[in-house]
Amino acid sequence: MSFARASENIRRKADHVWVALHEDVEFHTRTAGFERYSFVHEALPEIDRNSIDTSVTLFGKRLSMPLMISPITGGTPEAAEYNRVFAKAAQEFGLAMGVGSQRVALENPDLEWTFQVRDIAPDILLFANLGAVQLNNGCSVDSCSRVVEMIGADALMLHLNPLQECIQAHGNVNFRLLSARIGEVCDIIDVPVVAREVGHGISGRTASLLSDVGVAGIDVAGAGGTSWAKVESKRGSNSIGESLGEWGISTVDSLVAVKCLAPTLPIIASGGVRTGQDIAKSIALGADVAGMALPFLRCAAISPDTLFDKIAQLREELITVMFCTGSKSIDDLRSASLTGCSV
Ligand code: FNR
Repeated sequence: MSFARASENIRRKADHVWVALHEDVEFHTRTAGFERYSFVHEALPEIDRNSIDTSVTLFGKRLSMPLMISPITGGTPEAAEYNRVFAKAAQEFGLAMGVGSQRVALENPDLEWTFQVRDIAPDILLFANLGAVQLNNGCSVDSCSRVVEMIGADALMLHLNPLQECIQAHGNVNFRLLSARIGEVCDIIDVPVVAREVGHGISGRTASLLSDVGVAGIDVAGAGGTSWAKVESKRGSNSIGESLGEWGISTVDSLVAVKCLAPTLPIIASGGVRTGQDIAKSIALGADVAGMALPFLRCAAISPDTLFDKIAQLREELITVMFCTGSKSIDDLRSASLTGCSV
């Protein structure tokens, strides 16, 4: 890796945050799909709102509600500040959290500190992060172990981003035999490996491939929230990014397809999750946990308190939806009735 290419990678990470904060990077014509479903309101829920339990267990760790701060950043001092704000919120509210791609820290160990949050979030379910395509581009199973160790993570997220790689300058577009490489990582590494998209969705076919090679979970990261085609095209001047800006499988369609093809795998629903009701619908449609990125980044950019208020509001909304569907626990919520579907 040349010095110029390494610093280009760092620059790209900083640009992603800037573009996400200042440009219109969300899908417009495609929604995540939550509005297609409504919960059946129960006027006699027969439970006490004050005794509702929103906790779940994922990969052996207890979360106080089924929500994660999706992978966003790392690699610069500003990113380190964001990671620490996210980690403080995750610790305080009992959420899971992922850091952004740690490739820059593999290339430049001086940047490892920008991803490290264990000192302020000793108890959270923490995910390390690497682009799966890097396994065809110099990274090995050992690199995967290193990113996990680097931050004391409980699990590893490998992101799949074929569209993003096509639109960014110098993207890595050799995805040949990648499922087999992901399988090697799953076989050797001693933490769970979760495969995820970054905002364009996982199909049933891809879920089957991933399940066959032994991933421990899938984060659908579907279309309807942040569009990575738009982020990359706003960074550069690649018009393909604009014309493919609405590309992808909506989060709900991806969630239903993955649940159908890989029914026993833990699923994270993300991509356009924006409200407590979206979190609840994710659970009722088969997810174990929901994830959010852009709204949390935009709140954190205002102030840590704004982020804390946002999470508190999401929790209140979730509890209210649980109350009005008669769900005492997240297990009950899984079988709450939704109209607009036959689940
Ligand atoms: C991301 N996302 C992301 N995902 C990943 O696996 N590794 C990464 O390094 C990043 N980097 C990143 C930077 C920024 C600024 C944003 C906003 C997002 C993708 C993210 O985790 C998520 O999948 C998508 O943003 C879709 O969710 P939202 O934003 O619609 O809630």
